[in-house]
Amino acid sequence: MADERMNRISTGIKGFDGLVGGGFPEGAMVLLTGLPGVGKTIFGMQFIYNGARKGENGVYICIESSPAELKSQAAMFGMDFDAVEKEGRITFLRIPKGNVRFNLFQMISDAVNRTGAKRIVFDNVATYMVSLGRFVALWDETLSDVNEKARNMQIKDADGQMIVYSIIEQLKSLGRTCIVITHGDESGAKLTSDGISEYLCDGIVKLDIVELGREPTRIIKVTKMRQTKNTLELREFEITDRGIEVG
Ligand SMILES: Nc1ncnc2c1ncn2[C@@H]1O[C@H](COP(=O)(O)OP(=O)(O)O)[C@@H](O)[C@H]1O
Ligand SMILES: [Mg+2]
Repeated sequence: MADERMNRISTGIKGFDGLVGGGFPEGAMVLLTGLPGVGKTIFGMQFIYNGARKGENGVYICIESSPAELKSQAAMFGMDFDAVEKEGRITFLRIPKGNVRFNLFQMISDAVNRTGAKRIVFDNVATYMVSLGRFVALWDETLSDVNEKARNMQIKDADGQMIVYSIIEQLKSLGRTCIVITHGDESGAKLTSDGISEYLCDGIVKLDIVELGREPTRIIKVTKMRQTKNTLELREFEITDRGIEVG
């Protein structure tokens, strides 16, 4: 049953918080899934930015785009990330490319603890998996065997699931409100391409583009949210010059 007194972490995304009882449950691990181009990164940026604007620090971990690219995309939606970054409210962590050994989880937990971040976005776990062999980025030392296989590009589904499991469980252990972004499965048969993260998370938000007769329409659905009476309704949304707005 929903506990009305529970602290809710507002996304500040117009029309969204009402779908989840006012915001995500504090400390929840939320999976944000959908095919490329649906708006996952924009959603994640708005979540972090709107938090920072009201004093809740955030850490944004990015892989496919650089912080500079993300900031200039965000500026198109009126978000001035340079300003909040200067105030120390937002920290971007870019997973380094190249032949470096480092402990990614350590890097994230150091940044979260140093800045007292309440919000984390990991963008995104699917790209991280694909890039493992090229980046030689370790999630943590206990997975060195899996990382070794990844370097030799012999990574199997089961190894991939083990890494995803480790990422989600360790991020959860930080106790902050966290959005983990992943790719949807092309066939639509599964919620995620890894086939496991949907079971590990407290909440799932799915973005999609569907053809509803006339023109393609963006839709959003909250398929799972712990301690929340979510509506399970499909809602249309738009990406306007203020970012994502749910109708
Ligand atoms: N300035 C803008 N105004 C409206 N829509 C935009 C703008 N910039 C990008 N978009 C839309 O946002 C989409 C990309 O969103 P993004 O969050 O990066 O997707 P994802 O992370 O799911 O791959 C683009 O495909 C485009 O449709
Ligand atoms: Mg993206």
